[in-house]
Amino acid sequence: MAAPTEQPLLTPYQMGKFSLSHRVVLAPLTRQRSYGNVPQPHAILYYSQRTTKGGLLISEATGVSDTAQGYPDTPGIWTKEQVEAWKPIVNDVHEKGGIFFCQLWHVGRVSNTGFQPNGQSPISSTDKPLKPKLRSNQVDVAEFSPPRRLKTEEIPEIVNHFRLAARNAIEAGFDGVEIHGAHGYLLEQFMKDNVNDRTDQYGGSLENRCRFVLEVVEAICQEIGSDKVGIRLSPFADYAESGDSDPLALGLYMMEALNKYGLLYAHVVEPRMITVGERTETSHSLLPFRKAFKGTLIAVGGYNKEDGNKAIADGYADLVAFGRFFLANPDLPRRFKLDAPLNKYNRSTFYISDPVIGYTDYPFLEQASTE
Ligand code: FNR
Repeated sequence: MAAPTEQPLLTPYQMGKFSLSHRVVLAPLTRQRSYGNVPQPHAILYYSQRTTKGGLLISEATGVSDTAQGYPDTPGIWTKEQVEAWKPIVNDVHEKGGIFFCQLWHVGRVSNTGFQPNGQSPISSTDKPLKPKLRSNQVDVAEFSPPRRLKTEEIPEIVNHFRLAARNAIEAGFDGVEIHGAHGYLLEQFMKDNVNDRTDQYGGSLENRCRFVLEVVEAICQEIGSDKVGIRLSPFADYAESGDSDPLALGLYMMEALNKYGLLYAHVVEPRMITVGERTETSHSLLPFRKAFKGTLIAVGGYNKEDGNKAIADGYADLVAFGRFFLANPDLPRRFKLDAPLNKYNRSTFYISDPVIGYTDYPFLEQASTE
């Protein structure tokens, strides 16, 4: 049996200019503890607890503009106040030697007028409304308002919001950004043919449906450099009624397009995560994307230590992100190393506003004197 230190997940990896000491990534996790849209000081401890020297962390989804929000108490990065509030959080991660990327988010139609400036309609690729309730990670979010279809000439402004948010993320100290191109939010509302019913150059063919996300990619790469830019994609998922008739073709098209920008990483969600909580096995489904994409591939969705190690050993992924296990085990890489049992996650505290409970009170392993 391999010694614990030989676990593939715990081996170093060079991601562009970032020297990672292991391959266990903190997945982006919305925690709804930013009162209003400003991150709070209690996030310092939360991220710091999950930081290891040379470990990669991805922030919770962070709004790019005042139209980007659809959930209570999720942070943004479009105002000076928000940027200043992120700084001590990022700084603490850096002091402990972590590498921290900010996930940039626009929810599009997964919103309602109550989250929008002046009570306006949420924006989307379409004016098709979502069904009244969406089960998101077991939580019912409020009613969705019918969206307003973006006019063609409005799209450059939204692209610019992403660009400015990326600039702000660097200003806040983040090492890079992850574009949230997954889970039925705005960018997927353009990419996926179940949602996008446009007849302009942003709708119809695969090339047209991917135009908006690639304009965002290009703008951000120009702004901060492609060596600091990753993207999250979930071609197989159908969160928020966002299915696609040919997810493999969509994913492959995106991989090829991203290669042209020299993107740092693609973070791809396993199809088994189509419904959160229900795991269906589809072995090595992301392999075509691994083969097509030239940068770092991060796999996520339903991984445990064993199949994470296997994914790395098989060359199926370069890095593996962990969501729920990392949420409940701040010292997850160490627990893997020691083959220690994991704390169970408590779903009922995923999204509560308490600054401690279910957030920073998951216990660490005792420090052994022999370590
Ligand atoms: C998530 N997920 C998620 N994904 C994302 O891209 N941005 C986000 O902000 C969130 N927020 C979020 C909150 C909570 C509480 C959960 C449980 C999940 C999805 C997450 O990053 C990951 O893809 C899934 O949890 C699947 O990975 P695990 O949990 O099986 O390792």
